[in-house]
Amino acid sequence: MRLRLKLFLIIEYITFALSFSYLYQNHSQLIPWYDFAFFTIALFILSNLTTLVNKGIRVNTSLDLPILLSAIVVLDPFWVAIVAMVATIKINKIKIDFTWHKFIFNRTMFFVATGSAALIFRISQKHFNTPYYFLSLLFTAITFIIVNNILVYLVIKFEKKKNNFSFLQHMIKVGKKAPSTYLLGQFLYFVYINFDKGFFILGIIFTCFLLELFYTHVQQVNHSTQIVKSFLKVINSKDNYTEGHCQRVASYTKLLCKKLGLGPSQANCIIQMAKIHDVGKLNVSDEILSSSSRLTKDQKEEVRMHSLYGYQILQDIELLNENLDIILYHHEYYDGSGYPEGIRGEEIPLGARILAVCDAFDVMTYGRAYQAPMTKERVIQEFKDCTGTQFDPQISQAMIELIEADSFNHIFADNIAKYEQRYETVVELSS
Ligand SMILES: [Fe+2]
Ligand SMILES: [Fe+2]
Repeated sequence: MRLRLKLFLIIEYITFALSFSYLYQNHSQLIPWYDFAFFTIALFILSNLTTLVNKGIRVNTSLDLPILLSAIVVLDPFWVAIVAMVATIKINKIKIDFTWHKFIFNRTMFFVATGSAALIFRISQKHFNTPYYFLSLLFTAITFIIVNNILVYLVIKFEKKKNNFSFLQHMIKVGKKAPSTYLLGQFLYFVYINFDKGFFILGIIFTCFLLELFYTHVQQVNHSTQIVKSFLKVINSKDNYTEGHCQRVASYTKLLCKKLGLGPSQANCIIQMAKIHDVGKLNVSDEILSSSSRLTKDQKEEVRMHSLYGYQILQDIELLNENLDIILYHHEYYDGSGYPEGIRGEEIPLGARILAVCDAFDVMTYGRAYQAPMTKERVIQEFKDCTGTQFDPQISQAMIELIEADSFNHIFADNIAKYEQRYETVVELSS
């Protein structure tokens, strides 16, 4: 063990001894056995929930502090610190990675953090008379989080040879979880004083279950975002234009979804698909993709296969496959004259109809070697002309309104400048 770690642990044990002695001298002689036993058993079982249900469900949420907040209100500071010291022993940690110094550090750390938080509760309770100890519990939670995390940060810092994260970074990471921990603590205390103790346990399990669902959802969203990012990189390695195009289309899709009043979750699915909607072009030959002249009939036919290829490439990825119809049908026309299946009207998924409008907007405004970017007026006219044939009338109208409201003015200007750079020519705009 490193010398500085030894010194730190000695200081920490002295702090524990002083806190123990102070709290013991000031504790009430009456031991509330019933509440003491209840919180010890409840906290022990629920802090070990991860181990107990490890085979099927992962529990990401630490329930230590929320339960301790209720215990702090009910029990004397000395007894609640004992509860924290004993009941937070994690069986899985002992099994996997047991060392005496870690074990003793954790026990004493919980005693000191909980004891000081309980003292702050008693002091603030005299000053703040809010319902359900709303403010007192807030200061209590903050004290626990600060003391607990200073000690944990220091022990990690002194244990590791290289410590490449600052205390501020550590506290920001912890701080993100603090509001939910505090609110959960408030909720549990509310249940504890208003209902039977059985409901308290049920409340915790129910909350745990809800949080687990929430975290699983967040993880899934993160995973699918990472998959989309990886595909964007692959697309970029093949064809710069397609990657830039997909990202631009995704940004237009975001605006259009908002204009159409779609909910955040539905909009996000469409935006994610927009980011990789032309992934099928990975299967189209480089020669065709980089061609600067008009394509032959056969070449066009090969390009048209990209929406089906995209669907096939992604269909085995479970996190994405719910929304793949958006990619498969993004070249369908409202009147049924599109591809690959020629479906029409509302048979085409909403996401695909939105994507079709944004895709066309990018093609019109970005320009190709053989076609300069169109002016704002020309783009509006194109949408008007193709409403009801290529585009869904309602979505096309929403896009026209966005363009007329100057939402894309910077896009028009930027694209003309970029076009002139790309082809070293001065664009004469056709209108
Ligand atoms: Fe496409
Ligand atoms: Fe596209």
